[in-house]
Amino acid sequence: MTRRAVIQGVGSALPQRRVDNAELAVQVDTSDEWIVERTGIRTRYIAGEGETTATLAAEACRRALAEAGMEPGEIDLIVLATATPDQTFPSSATKVQAMLGIADCIAFDVHAVCTGFLYALSVADAMIRAGNASSALVIGAETFSRILDWEDRGTCVLFGDGAGAVVLKAEEGGTRGILATRLHADGRHGDMLYVDGGPSTTGTVGKLRMKGREVFRHAVVNLADVLNEVLEVAGLTSDQVDWVVPHQANARIIDATARKLGLSPERVVLTVDRHANTSAASVPLALDVAVKDGRIKQGDCVVLEAMGGGFTWGAAALRF
Ligand code: UT7
Repeated sequence: MTRRAVIQGVGSALPQRRVDNAELAVQVDTSDEWIVERTGIRTRYIAGEGETTATLAAEACRRALAEAGMEPGEIDLIVLATATPDQTFPSSATKVQAMLGIADCIAFDVHAVCTGFLYALSVADAMIRAGNASSALVIGAETFSRILDWEDRGTCVLFGDGAGAVVLKAEEGGTRGILATRLHADGRHGDMLYVDGGPSTTGTVGKLRMKGREVFRHAVVNLADVLNEVLEVAGLTSDQVDWVVPHQANARIIDATARKLGLSPERVVLTVDRHANTSAASVPLALDVAVKDGRIKQGDCVVLEAMGGGFTWGAAALRF
């Protein structure tokens, strides 16, 4: 019998403070018109005092567990994707574990920037299928506002903070669950999207730097390729896909990728307008929106995809 990791619950959490484009236009030389036309972003959430990657992640987990009808003590694996951990160490996954009151389980962070949730999901899926875990919390959580250069209009308008989580549980012999995942990385493009600091180099946290136009160009090609790849591995054709939940970096990237695959825009979940780019949190945040508003239903065929710094990129196909 095939053992698969099935999504039992989804949850998300956003900081209290919502910031619209007009508010940013007071700080840097930009405009609502430019941001909306070039990116589709209208608002983003920015973490305030007491709100961190781990606190947002823990809240997203509580909501996902409630939806799954499970207690924290039933979880035996936590994989948290982030590029903005609360501290260099211990991992934010162990902080979330403590916040949820779980005494003993496997817990670690995965770092693949905007592709982090796909990497985390893939690792948790493999551990569940191998029998190393029976239930998992897979989280994407970020506070990118804390690594932005708030004087650089080319980047500070693009990102936001938030967290999303899914509860996975092993099931034998059913049709639901993660069908296939594909991951990629090409470190030769590390200087296109990076943070100019770190514990082992400058001893500082650093600020995000990006060559936006080059990232854009690579994103459309890589995302279309990996989507085709994951569909092939899962034995699906694009017309069998009910929903695509893409990484929310730019509405133009999402449109161009969907067009390349011949997917109609009605089947693509778009939340970049309200969340902006929340890096590893963007896919589970968007998934939660589409589950809660009733678009994604049990049994639907869903494809997730993301691309980010490294470069890293990946996709997953699942029956929800
Ligand atoms: O999540 C990880 C993956 N990240 C991404 O996928 C991001 C990919 N890149 C993008 O989304 C887009 O490249 C951006 C949104 C970052 C930029 O859009 P673009 O259409 O590629 O603009 P551009 O960088 O070519 O800049 C066009 C112009 C420039 O002015 P000049 O040189 O033509 O006079 C920029 O200085 O727009 C200017 N500009 C701005 N103007 C007003 C850049 N940022 C702003 C701004 N407000 N915030």
